[in-house]
Amino acid sequence: MTREELRTPCYLVQEKELKRNLGILKGICDETGCRILLAQKAFSMYSVYPLIREYLNGTTASGLYEARLGYEEMGKGTAAGAERGTETHIFSPAYREDEMEEIVKICDHIVFNSPGQFRKYKDMAKRAGKSIGMRINPECSTQEGHAIYDPCAPFSRLGTTVKTFREEMTEEEIRELDGLHFHTLCEQDSDDLAVTLKAVEEQFGQWLPGMKWINFGGGHHITRQDYDRELLKQCIRHVKDTYGVEVYLEPGEAVALNAGVLLTEVLEIMENGMKIAILDTSAACHMPDVLEMPYRPPLKDAGEPGEDDRKPYIYRLAGPTCLAGDVIGDYSFAEPLKVGDRLEFGDMAIYTMVKNNTFNGMKLPDIVLEREDGTCEVVRKFGYEEFKARL
Ligand SMILES: Cc1ncc(COP(=O)(O)O)c(C=O)c1O
Repeated sequence: MTREELRTPCYLVQEKELKRNLGILKGICDETGCRILLAQKAFSMYSVYPLIREYLNGTTASGLYEARLGYEEMGKGTAAGAERGTETHIFSPAYREDEMEEIVKICDHIVFNSPGQFRKYKDMAKRAGKSIGMRINPECSTQEGHAIYDPCAPFSRLGTTVKTFREEMTEEEIRELDGLHFHTLCEQDSDDLAVTLKAVEEQFGQWLPGMKWINFGGGHHITRQDYDRELLKQCIRHVKDTYGVEVYLEPGEAVALNAGVLLTEVLEIMENGMKIAILDTSAACHMPDVLEMPYRPPLKDAGEPGEDDRKPYIYRLAGPTCLAGDVIGDYSFAEPLKVGDRLEFGDMAIYTMVKNNTFNGMKLPDIVLEREDGTCEVVRKFGYEEFKARL
C-alpha cells in the first residue's frame, strides 16, 4: 500500500527514522557499556518490538500491563528475548497487592518508590530472584515552567528524598537494595543530566559503591539533532568508573522521536474572524499532549502565521469534537486549503497512540508502519467496536 491509499486519520510510523534513532542509542551502549531500555509509556507499538530488541536491552513499564506487553512481545516471554536476555523493568509509585505475584514473575528489575513499598514487597521479589531498587528524589529541578513534568517539584510523590532515605531505611535494609533509580528530566539535554548527577552523588554517593546498578530514568533527548552525546557518555563513564555500577537509561521519547507522523484530512472550512479548517483528527483525542503540555505540533509545508510572505493563507486547525478548545494551532500555507486536502503532523509516534481516547465517539487513528522502501503496512485498524468495548 502507498501513503496515498491509507485512510485517515492514521499514525504512520517510519521504520527508517526508528532505525536511525535505535542506531544512535545502540552506539551509546556500545561505546560506554551502559544498558538502554524502551520506556513503553511513550511508545508501545509492539509490532516493532522485534526490531527494537535488536538494538536495545529491554523495556521498562509503569505497571503490570506495560510489563506484560514488554515481556510477551520483546522480553523473555519470546524465544528471541529469552535467548538475548532482553530485560523487563518496572517502576510504580505504589503496587497493587493482587498484581504483585505476576509482576515478580515477569520483571527482572522491580523499583520501589518508598521505604513502605520496599518493606512490603522486597522479600517476595528477592525470593523470586529479582533485582530490586529504590527510586530516589534528588530534589534537583532542572526544568522550568512545566511543573506537571517535574518529579522534583515541591511535595512530589515521585521518589524518596535523602532525608527520608536516611531516617527510615536501616543500613541493613539499604544493603538489600541492588540499585537506585532517578527520573527527573523531560526532553532535556545532557548538561541537565550532569547537574542532576552531581546532586545524586552529593546526596546518595556514599551508598552507590554497595549497589549493582543505577538507573538514570528517561527524559534524555538523545536522538535530537543538537543533543550533546559526548557529555552523556562522560556522565555514564564517570558513574561506572567511580562506583563500579551498571548504568541503565530508560528513554521513551528518544526511541521514536520524529519517527512518525499523523495523517489527517480537511473535512470542512469555515469562517469566524479567521479561516478555520476542521480536520478528521482531534487534539483532545488523538494528540492529547498538544493540549496537556501544551505545544504546537509541526505541520509539513506549513509555517507560523505571518512568518513568510510566501505563505499568506492562515488557518486555525481544529478537531471535530464538541470541545471548544480542541484546537491544534494556527498555521500558514502557500495555497488556500480545500476540503479533502491531506495534512501531515510531525513527531506523532510518541505519547500519541498510548494516550489517545474515543471522547465523543471519535474513531481512533489506524496504526501504520512505513517500511524503508516506502511501502505501508496497516498494523491495526480501529472502528466502532473499540469505542463500544470500553464502555
Ligand atoms: C520513570 C520514568 N522513566 C522513563 C520515562 C520516559 O521519559 P521520556 O519519554 O521523556 O524519555 C518516564 C516519563 O515520564 C518516567 O516517568
